[in-house]
Amino acid sequence: MTRLAVLSDIHSNLPALEAVLDDLKPFTVDQIIVAGDVVNWGPFSRQVMERLAELPCAIIRGNNELYLTDWQTSRAPEHWKIFTLPPYTLAQLGDHWMNVISSWPDTLSLRFRDASAIKVVHGSPRSHFEPILPTSSDTEIETILAGVQENTVITAHSHLILDRQVNGWHILNAGSVGNPLDGNMTASYMLLESHNDQWRAIQRRVAFDSQRVLDEFERTHFIEQCGVVGHLVVQEYRSARLEVLPFLEWWRKHCPDEPQSMAMLEPFSKVDKRDYMPPAYQVGM
Ligand SMILES: [Fe+2]
Repeated sequence: MTRLAVLSDIHSNLPALEAVLDDLKPFTVDQIIVAGDVVNWGPFSRQVMERLAELPCAIIRGNNELYLTDWQTSRAPEHWKIFTLPPYTLAQLGDHWMNVISSWPDTLSLRFRDASAIKVVHGSPRSHFEPILPTSSDTEIETILAGVQENTVITAHSHLILDRQVNGWHILNAGSVGNPLDGNMTASYMLLESHNDQWRAIQRRVAFDSQRVLDEFERTHFIEQCGVVGHLVVQEYRSARLEVLPFLEWWRKHCPDEPQSMAMLEPFSKVDKRDYMPPAYQVGM
């Protein structure tokens, strides 16, 4: 039997990664698969890279790694110009770890002998930014996965757990290690075990010390450097709910020509955030 651990969306959360690695200890894991968004958002980017470098793991880039590899290059789209997080994270990583990230693949195809081949993507096979959500219809998923030869698809990006069969594909999402968005502030990851030529997923949730993350945000002056988006990122590490995306949706709708600022938190606090977030993230709200 082959047993894999699937981790994704660690988002520079070292206490959450350490809790997951502790939880893994009693299992004999043959390989660790990391489906992108290892760094950015959280405050421990360099430490997370150092810890992963000690492990037997295959890693792909997520959209948060693209924000770093393409920031202020000719590849960066125009709307990235107002981003405030890349300078903070790039300063933590330095050239060495950025060269490692720059050399990661965008997708992987895994071919273990005792179960179906696995395609690993961050969002979808078409884009790091396109999610496969629990609310996506079978038809939408068939369109997104058209042409994928592997029977099993590991996706990430949404930070929401998924284990679904659609038209011969087994689609899996381990949730997020470091930035869960389902209201449950515990690290989420998945074990995959080969049985009768199929993969069986075991989803696991693990408690971690979230106060350590909040303290590190403060120690590294994260909000001072990253402004209103930084403030909302910290809120996400308190609430395990989407905070940044609803704000950006509200800003685009009501005041897209005004520079984003802390003063916008007051009017934004009066809106119903559910009006600005996809239904998949409203479970239990
Ligand atoms: Fe992510």
